[in-house]
Amino acid sequence: MCGIVGYIGHREAYPIIMKGLQRLEYRGYDSAGIALYDGNQINLAKTKGKVIDLKSKSENSISLEGTLGIGHTRWATHGIPNDTNSHPHYSNSGDLVIIHNGIIENYETIKKELSKRGYVFSSDTDTEVLVNLIEEVKKKENVLLGKAVQIALNQVVGAYAIAVFDRNKPDEIVVAKLGSPLAIGIGQQEFFIASDASPFIEFTNNAVYLQDQEMAIIRLGKEIKLRKIQDDAIAYPLVQELQMNLEEIEKGMYDHFMLKEIYEQPSAIKDTYRGRLRVEQGIIKMAGIDQNIERFLNAQRIIIVACGTSWHAGLVAEYIFEDLARIPVEVEYASEFRYRNPVITDKDVVIAISQSGETADTLAAIKLAKERGAYVFGVCNVVGSSIARETHAGAYTHAGPEIGVASTKAFTTQITILSLIALKLAKEKGAFSDSKYHEILSELENIPSKVEVALESNSLVEIISEEYKDSDNCLYLGRGYNFPVALEGALKLKEISYIHAEGYPAAEMKHGPIALIDEQMPVIVIATNNGHYEKVVSNIQEIKSRKGKIIAIVTEGDEQVRELADHVIEVPETLECLTPLLTTIPLQLLSYHIAVMRGCNVDQPRNLAKSVTVE
Ligand code: F6R
Repeated sequence: MCGIVGYIGHREAYPIIMKGLQRLEYRGYDSAGIALYDGNQINLAKTKGKVIDLKSKSENSISLEGTLGIGHTRWATHGIPNDTNSHPHYSNSGDLVIIHNGIIENYETIKKELSKRGYVFSSDTDTEVLVNLIEEVKKKENVLLGKAVQIALNQVVGAYAIAVFDRNKPDEIVVAKLGSPLAIGIGQQEFFIASDASPFIEFTNNAVYLQDQEMAIIRLGKEIKLRKIQDDAIAYPLVQELQMNLEEIEKGMYDHFMLKEIYEQPSAIKDTYRGRLRVEQGIIKMAGIDQNIERFLNAQRIIIVACGTSWHAGLVAEYIFEDLARIPVEVEYASEFRYRNPVITDKDVVIAISQSGETADTLAAIKLAKERGAYVFGVCNVVGSSIARETHAGAYTHAGPEIGVASTKAFTTQITILSLIALKLAKEKGAFSDSKYHEILSELENIPSKVEVALESNSLVEIISEEYKDSDNCLYLGRGYNFPVALEGALKLKEISYIHAEGYPAAEMKHGPIALIDEQMPVIVIATNNGHYEKVVSNIQEIKSRKGKIIAIVTEGDEQVRELADHVIEVPETLECLTPLLTTIPLQLLSYHIAVMRGCNVDQPRNLAKSVTVE
């Protein structure tokens, strides 16, 4: 849950590492650090705070020269965020310096052992223990750095992506991975190291993604050598050509990545169904499903595992799969599923949903499901991510990089792909008529332009936000397909504006939450015309008679709710099963504007990180 960057080559390392760290700040931003080798010595600066704080600290305190360096942006696990706990960490001799993303679970035992041998520790981190363990192995076994790293890693339990170098051998960086991501960018006589490809995409499109239990010795002027950490076997690097471009990861004309990503949804949804949805031919082409269609058609049930926003997309999918394909679905929090001794058989299909493809709980749930014989299908956004690799088959969402910590386009593209799967299975099973199938297919194709219309509510949403920005609480209500959208709306608001918000099925309100309603309470109700509309109207009346403030998301042209609500935000008409793709848009905008008006850091909300690689 931290970002790591490294460089070795012929350019100045400092600007490359700094820029790279800024791009990786979505992974953690409570402290940052850098270590550069200037030809004589290591110059290291680190600080609590953001990469921008590191920039001013390093520019005022160390020499920035050098063509070899490593940098880190942290999301604290062991030890509070402060200067000392920030990475990089030196070994006791000062020879080795390391950056680490992950958790060493048995670090206390190792620390005690090393302390007995005279090692002292200045930080509370597991990482400082690891670099000293490497140093101890190197001295005791009289081996080179690469070998020492390998022996040390065989003694640790946990997860890691590390980069370490030795000031006495400044022509190489040793990297290793287990559980946390690590990519190596391969340039002309230069190498880049990073948690994802965004720090080096402007320099090279060629990358090697390390697999779990692999390490590499990256040496100037040499080919990369990969080894298995466990048994020293040689592994062959698979050089991938990356599709991503720099423009995709810059903010462009937007103030925040979140807003940019909200506005990217029409094209992201289109990119997600492009080549798959063939309306004229009346087919959906998805290699991952086509090749394994029998597994899906014979599935006793589908179990969806995910976390956070991806779990909400899973809930929407539950409605779609059951409604359209008539396949029973269970949606599980990955973190509960993995520890619950769940009943899983080889007749089950598990769908794991994850934007990052790195969420530790989802990854562990997949491993458990596989062990018990289930067929596991991944829906991920990040190409080559751990979940994409761990699943039997899968489909990418093609949303492009999502940098804002709050998921937006990931959610709608996940729903898009899951709708495609449900439709495909429904068709194969003959679960509904051809005309219904064609109607949904062509409506799905219209969704991007309808999302564009929904985005036109932005100025109205901004005005409404002004009125409610100082609220302490907020209630979100929806029914059927829009119940998960209510949950998602509430999550968006709380995570970026720090306003307490709850999502509820509208009918559940009278079983408790109604007691909260008074004239201070904004209630956001999703009341589109085709999902239990009359029932939701009754719920709105119940809120109104308790003086709650009603913000309703309605279908274009609605009159009934307009009479009752304090504010209405219209979205275009669509089929009920596709409404979440539209109703979610004003809710994203509402949380965005409220957070901006409250002065919150929208792209980097406190205590959060984009990729949760710890359980
Ligand atoms: C909320 C949010 C998180 C993620 C969750 C799962 O806006 O982004 O709740 O949805 O951490 O992440 P992925 O989808 O990467 O597995």
